[in-house]
Amino acid sequence: MVLGIETSCDECAASVVSGNMEILSNVVSSQVEAHRPYGGVVPEIASREHLKTIVQVVEQALDDAHIGLDDVNAIGVTQGPGLIGSLLVGVSFAKAVSMAKGIPLVGVDHVAAHLFAVQLEPDPPEPPFVGLVASGGHTSLYLVKDHLDIELIGATKDDAAGEAFDKAAKMLGLPYPGGASIERESQRNGNPQEYKLPRPMLKSGDLHFSFSGLKTALLHLVKGWPQERVNDELPHLCASFQEAVVDVLVEKSLAATQEHGQGKLIISGGVAANARLRESLGKQAEKRGVRLWVPSKQLCTDNAAMVAALAYFMFTEGRRSDMKMEAYSTLYRRQG
Ligand code: KG4
Ligand code: ZN
Repeated sequence: MVLGIETSCDECAASVVSGNMEILSNVVSSQVEAHRPYGGVVPEIASREHLKTIVQVVEQALDDAHIGLDDVNAIGVTQGPGLIGSLLVGVSFAKAVSMAKGIPLVGVDHVAAHLFAVQLEPDPPEPPFVGLVASGGHTSLYLVKDHLDIELIGATKDDAAGEAFDKAAKMLGLPYPGGASIERESQRNGNPQEYKLPRPMLKSGDLHFSFSGLKTALLHLVKGWPQERVNDELPHLCASFQEAVVDVLVEKSLAATQEHGQGKLIISGGVAANARLRESLGKQAEKRGVRLWVPSKQLCTDNAAMVAALAYFMFTEGRRSDMKMEAYSTLYRRQG
């Protein structure tokens, strides 16, 4: 039994996962309401919210799984990357419980944990495969050579896909979190071909991404428009923007899979919850003979079950963290 704890951003989450990758509980307490008035995540508010909710969230996860701390064999906690103040709440909490109860501790990388969401679904793929992590902070392609042998093969040069959704939504006056708002507007009969927006780096011949130019193109498109016109055109603007992001993600992921992943692709991260991405990738993958694994939406967005899953794989390989374990805010500080 692994207890997973996740506090890297604006979700306070805890989950119990058993060794056969069965999810016994999966509690996610979202802070969306606390941040919404500011149009994005406010780090100081996020840390304080985590402090308020973490005990309750972990207790709920244990209760839902019908177990107590004495039944927990390992604690997995997100060490980074993320907001440092938020990470410290989870890491300090996990260290305290580990020390008090003598439960082994495993610090895990949040982005790598996204790659493990798929292991919690029926018939998960065996490595090697390619994994796309598209979230608020990252848009990266990984070659998963073995479960714990992961190589970065593509990344964004500037904004992440989720960040582009969030910034575009803000520009159009839509509420945070932006990705879900843009998806909702598009579904009001938005025509994805109505506005021509660029597909950055689509033909760059490598596996890297760039989304800041797309956001700027949208800004130029609506510049000088009165708010009523923006409001009237929202479904088309959102559908056109979403389509541009989706086209790039689909194309690059499939190219990476055909080049490196032996025809096997998995996706994860908040943007992977996007219905249009799931649909388009499904169709294109089938056309090109790529096998695709798509976790449920709850496992794509931030959660602690994926943290527990990665911690389990690390734990069985003998990896442990000690009380000197540090939270880290930026990507690539920690290898392996
Ligand atoms: O993985 P995640 O929950 O947290 C991070 O690790 O960042 O991803 C959050 C990101 C946000 O940028 C949010 O706008 C985006 O995922 N997102 C979506 C959707 N749901 C969340 N983007 C597009 N469509 C969605 N349905
Ligand atoms: Zn995430």
